[in-house]
Amino acid sequence: MKRSFILLMSLFIILLAGAVAMAFTGTYTPGTGINGTPHDLRQGQPGGNYPAMPADALNRICVWCHAPHHAYKLSTSGGAGTGPEAPPDYTYLPLWNHAVTTQVFAPYDPGPDKPLSGSKYPQSVDYFDKVGSVSLLCLSCHDGTVAVNEYGHAPQDTRSRSSGGSTIAVQYKIGKDGYLLNHHPIGFDYDSVAAEDPEIYDSATAQFGTTPVSNYLWNGKMECSTCHAVHNTGNSGEKFLYVSDANSNLCLSCHAKGSKTP
Ligand code: HEC
Ligand code: HEC
Ligand code: HEC
Ligand code: HEC
Repeated sequence: MKRSFILLMSLFIILLAGAVAMAFTGTYTPGTGINGTPHDLRQGQPGGNYPAMPADALNRICVWCHAPHHAYKLSTSGGAGTGPEAPPDYTYLPLWNHAVTTQVFAPYDPGPDKPLSGSKYPQSVDYFDKVGSVSLLCLSCHDGTVAVNEYGHAPQDTRSRSSGGSTIAVQYKIGKDGYLLNHHPIGFDYDSVAAEDPEIYDSATAQFGTTPVSNYLWNGKMECSTCHAVHNTGNSGEKFLYVSDANSNLCLSCHAKGSKTP
């Protein structure tokens, strides 16, 4: 009895230590760039919990996500060029080097009893197109199907490739099992929604600080990068957010549900 308790406790401590070791523990200032943030995955940094395999002798930052050569190609390349072809849904590949997710995602849905008619219907989410390519890039680490430390392809220099198996810690897992139903909707044309929903500001009126939200749409669509600045540049909010969610000001930038608190 006592022994199994000790065994259980030590297992618990090991698990706890594992969880603590994985999650980002540092602090950083919004808008000051990627260095020292959770997206700075270099060894020796607070975000360096998913080491490159083998270690990158140059200890680079960008290589986890981008490479200067032989990065992913559009599926329409027809076999031309070098490097791997990304799946067809990847229609935006900024020199993309990180291994990509092929998981199928189910979009946001509040449930079968959402308003299907009446005056609340236009405010109900019914505009989903598909998870945009820019969001698929995020989900390639954040859905937990692809290891954070899996990047690079032949014929790149072997130093630009990593074949680790460490998937992202659960707090940061968005879209696990393809389930996006309980995450803020993305993948829809913002202005089409604003035109129907009287309590959504249009993308010129909705502002993050003094910048219209239209600046953060991807081919007109709302995606992960509409709220988050992946490189921690141009943002003033915590968690890479373009504006802080203090007093819910982030939400009140788009949702006409009250006034922002200065
Ligand atoms: C954790 C992944 C990640 C890392 C690390 C990263 N990027 Fe990016 N980068 C992205 C994603 C995702 C996009 C497209 C989405 C976006 O811009 O929001 C992007 C887009 C870009 C773009 C095109 C759009 C723009 O914002 O200018 C450039 C240029 C770029 N990155 C440069 C860099 C450089 C240089 C580094 C290293 C100092 C770097 N990135 C590190 C993920 C990353
Ligand atoms: C960039 C603009 C923007 C920001 C920021 C934003 N939202 Fe949204 N949100 C939208 C749009 C557009 C929709 C889709 C509305 C529709 O379909 O009519 C939406 C949908 C929703 C829904 C689903 C409504 C339904 O019918 O099921 C909720 C709830 C919600 N947002 C809450 C929030 C909260 C809370 C925040 C802050 C953490 C937030 N939003 C931040 C634009 C935004
Ligand atoms: C190369 C893998 C990778 C890609 C691609 C990536 N992330 Fe991350 N992201 C991480 C890791 C790793 C963490 C920290 C997890 C940890 O410390 O355990 C993180 C943390 C975050 C955080 C939390 C920041 C904080 O202050 O706590 C946000 C928000 C985030 N990512 C958003 C995004 C968005 C949005 C994109 C796409 C535009 C993206 N990420 C693309 C790996 C990635
Ligand atoms: C409507 C704006 C909005 C959109 C769109 C959005 N997020 Fe977030 N995200 C937030 C806010 C607000 C937080 C902070 C939540 C908190 O602190 O509890 C956050 C937190 C996070 C975190 C950190 C979780 C944590 O607990 O530390 C990650 C990772 C993340 N988002 C990734 C994503 C990814 C990936 C997408 C696209 C699939 C996305 N976000 C789309 C607003 C958004």
